[in-house]
Amino acid sequence: MTEKVSLSYKGKTYEYSTITGSENEEAFDISCLRRETGLITMDYGYQNTGSTKSSITYVNGEQGILRYRGYSIEDLAEKATFPETAWLLIYGELPTEEELTVFRRLLTENSLVHANLLHFFREVPPSAHPMGILSSVVNALGLFAPKYYDAETDASELELMITALISKIRTIAAFSYKASIGEPFVYPEANRSYCANFLNMMFSSHTKPYVVNPIMEKVLNTLLIIHADHEQNCSTSTVRMVGSSQANLYASVCAGICALWGPLHGGANQAVLETLIRVQKSGMTIKEVLEKAKSKEDPFKLSGFGHRVYKSYDPRAKILKGLMEKLFNEEDSQDPLIDIARELEHQALQDDYFIERKLYPNVDFYSGILYRAMGIPTNMLTVMFAIGRLPGWIAHWKEMHNDPQSKINRPRQIYTGPSQKKWIDRNLRG
Ligand code: ACO
Repeated sequence: MTEKVSLSYKGKTYEYSTITGSENEEAFDISCLRRETGLITMDYGYQNTGSTKSSITYVNGEQGILRYRGYSIEDLAEKATFPETAWLLIYGELPTEEELTVFRRLLTENSLVHANLLHFFREVPPSAHPMGILSSVVNALGLFAPKYYDAETDASELELMITALISKIRTIAAFSYKASIGEPFVYPEANRSYCANFLNMMFSSHTKPYVVNPIMEKVLNTLLIIHADHEQNCSTSTVRMVGSSQANLYASVCAGICALWGPLHGGANQAVLETLIRVQKSGMTIKEVLEKAKSKEDPFKLSGFGHRVYKSYDPRAKILKGLMEKLFNEEDSQDPLIDIARELEHQALQDDYFIERKLYPNVDFYSGILYRAMGIPTNMLTVMFAIGRLPGWIAHWKEMHNDPQSKINRPRQIYTGPSQKKWIDRNLRG
């Protein structure tokens, strides 16, 4: 028998049915709450609000579990490729060999951006933040694909649009970097993997030979898989929010990129590296960093620590820490920031403030160090996150469009402004 939740209000009792997910997580359905009682719910930051049912990603924050379509993040990070993972998230199952071959071919064939867009990269100031460039160019892609504006876009057109976007996002990221350092663009090459192509577009140049390091290619593949989805996080909810008005995929993803940019979300990876560099350069001690993070007078937070859902170690951070140890112990890589990061983590995990609030390293704590080892500049770290997260955004946008229960997202509010005021004619000019 399904459990019911009772609510008593103004002498009446109302009953609401419960919904149970496939991992036994529970909700109660308040869709008719306002109609029946006149009440709305208030939930700052949506800490207790389920906005949808979804079959894409499962997160258990207490036990540190993350699965895409049933597959553990540990297995995917070790054994899958990023294109395979993207397909899994978007279409629900791992691709067959044939599907993967076609997908890879389409990724290659759709990797270029329209030549008219190249002016944009050259005209923005070199100091422009790469997240601003990425969001603008992704939105502009829609202007070059007018048939995709149609809400009636058929399935094969949509598939092509999705593949093209996954391919072009890495070209846009690499071109924005080349433009910022005043170097000519390096075009994608058909015979390279998704990750090798990106590294080549970033670091190959006409003056310096560049050979893609297969270890870095593998590290990048793992990082992109780890970023690929995380259920109803801020940027994904933004994509769903914008998409719920039937805005096109480019506009919805552009909004997601902007949401990811913030330092409380994907922008945290840039902030982590900046903190580590600050400790290295200024001589500030780790104890001072922690005191600053704990102080209620200081807006500074220890970026890369804490998570809305994970109240134990983020499984993604665990994988990245292992990858970092492997890269820097077994390979010939070195970075003085690693010792600072290790010590910062060690001291934070022993500090009562962090213990009481269950604040553990999140995915952003170690990702920046790994990207740095590849040569990715600090201001591009969040762009890397966006490249990884794109399949998740697309999967959610598609799931929402195919869900007959989905509606335009439109929360309510409790108005706290003045009551009606009488207009007094003031006879002012202007
Ligand atoms: N440093 C210092 N204190 C923190 C931190 C932190 N990184 N994170 C949380 N706290 C404190 C809060 O000040 C609050 O303290 P209080 O109870 O004394 O008021 C308590 O821990 C609870 O934190 P909230 O902000 O209420 O938790 P919420 O779930 O709203 O926020 C968030 C989660 C935004 C991730 C937060 O932990 C944070 O700001 N972390 C740093 C930024 C970061 O790393 N973001 C990346 C998250 S992962 C991702 O988005 C990909």
